[in-house]
Amino acid sequence: MAKQEDQFKKVISHAKEYGYIFPSSEIYDGLSAVYDYGQNGVELKRNIREYWWKAMVQLHENIVGLDSSIFMHPTTWKASGHVDAFNDPLIDNKDSKKRYRADVLVEDHTAKIEAKIEKEVKKAAKRFGDDFDQEQFLATNPRVLKYQEEIQAILKRLGRSLEKEDLADVKALIEELGIADPETGSKNWTDVKQFNLMFGTKLGASADTAMDLYLRPETAQGIFVNFLNVQKTGRMKIPFGIAQTGKAFRNEIVARQFIFRMREFEQMEMQFFIKPGTQKEWYEYWKEARLKWHLSLGLGEENYRYHDHEKLAHYADAAADIEFRFPFGFKELEGIHSRTDFDLAKHEEFSGKKLQFFDPEENKSYTPYVLETSIGLDRMFLAVFSSALQEEELENGSTRTVLRIPAVLAPTKVAILPLIKKDGLPEVARRIFDDLKWDMQVDYDEKDAVGRRYRRQDAAGTPFCVTVDHETLENDTVTLRYRDSMEQKRVAISDLHAMISKETNMSHWLKRIS
Ligand code: GAP
Repeated sequence: MAKQEDQFKKVISHAKEYGYIFPSSEIYDGLSAVYDYGQNGVELKRNIREYWWKAMVQLHENIVGLDSSIFMHPTTWKASGHVDAFNDPLIDNKDSKKRYRADVLVEDHTAKIEAKIEKEVKKAAKRFGDDFDQEQFLATNPRVLKYQEEIQAILKRLGRSLEKEDLADVKALIEELGIADPETGSKNWTDVKQFNLMFGTKLGASADTAMDLYLRPETAQGIFVNFLNVQKTGRMKIPFGIAQTGKAFRNEIVARQFIFRMREFEQMEMQFFIKPGTQKEWYEYWKEARLKWHLSLGLGEENYRYHDHEKLAHYADAAADIEFRFPFGFKELEGIHSRTDFDLAKHEEFSGKKLQFFDPEENKSYTPYVLETSIGLDRMFLAVFSSALQEEELENGSTRTVLRIPAVLAPTKVAILPLIKKDGLPEVARRIFDDLKWDMQVDYDEKDAVGRRYRRQDAAGTPFCVTVDHETLENDTVTLRYRDSMEQKRVAISDLHAMISKETNMSHWLKRIS
């Protein structure tokens, strides 16, 4: 646990030191759960967004893009259910005055029981050595089975109580389980209350006529209200999708995990409109397609898993998360939701406008069902960044810090380094820089010894360095150094562009998906 926390602290400080992420308005001591992206962060974020956009929009002839506004008519949020149901159950500790999400307290309690199971597994693996069969042990060991039953029973009761809005029972559960304030150990709890996560604001100049608005808590509703505009003007036929990326805002209560849970964040969402009755097959299709997208980046298959939801959101008939192994454990990275016709039907009801599709094959109109894929761009950033940051022991006993961001997403693709600042080397290096900069993000660095410059680029995540030396002046070759292996090759200047482009270009990486 302490090791995980140390690693997470390193991630946060490295992100700041190398210009990836800064606390927002830091000179005024920052703003809780709000962050700014620096010179490298903005490039990484842009590349992730583009990698998603190309995979969803460019590679699917039946998916198109949209950029809807953050402000929407307030009835949108009444129709979508967010005004009444976009709540978190909160509980306060009367002694410490700290506020918690009641469901998270219970889930953290079950995570502790889960840790006991892991401990039993480790003990047994040690005892039985090579003969140990983990699957069989988990299915038969009485102590493990008792723990599993305990977890199931707790989560089932929590799910049921939340669904029935029985907040008194959620409090009773917390008390029965003996859950204490994680910071102070006090068990003196208030009742559980619902807290709406939407930020409100006002539109209009005068206090009496101003209209109450919300900052959108998801980008999805902008897609639903434009369903007919896009379908008609794009002459789209079902099945088809609408994708968009953009900011969303939530007044999160538990917002402690850096950019994992923010109050202002960016989503990349796609709503896929389908014929009612086909939702099961499209649900499976998109679950698999989205995992393939993740795997194409090579962050390690073992770092992903599915988590099927037991407690479904108010709009869904099936839902799963793709979870990623963050420095603080497996957590949700992306959601795949079968949203039925809930949203379009509700917008029809509240707006009085028909939001239907005339299916020429069926010769009838219907309200389409929707399959949604929804991923947080900032969360994806954290997945890439945290898994990329590594400390490596080298053969000579020294260590190097290296940020192994997939080359396709790296902010800077190549750094051009003249070995020394004289003898005409900077001039040649500048010419190479000027030649490459049209097609990729390039850095030029002539300060310090070349070894230090390599280390700096390794830590910043630059996948390639090109060193210009005296031999360059004789035969137009340079040294191409690879960040990950530290291998160095002598290559012709005229080959550089093709070699680096091949390793960094999006289509090359995206082809892995198919
Ligand atoms: N339209 C469906 C929707 O918004 P969600 O599960 O609430 O579903 C989707 O959010 C994704 O948005 C999550 O999987 C996560 O990656 C990201 N996300 C949600 N809340 C977030 C927050 N407070 N900070 C950062 N990312 C968040």
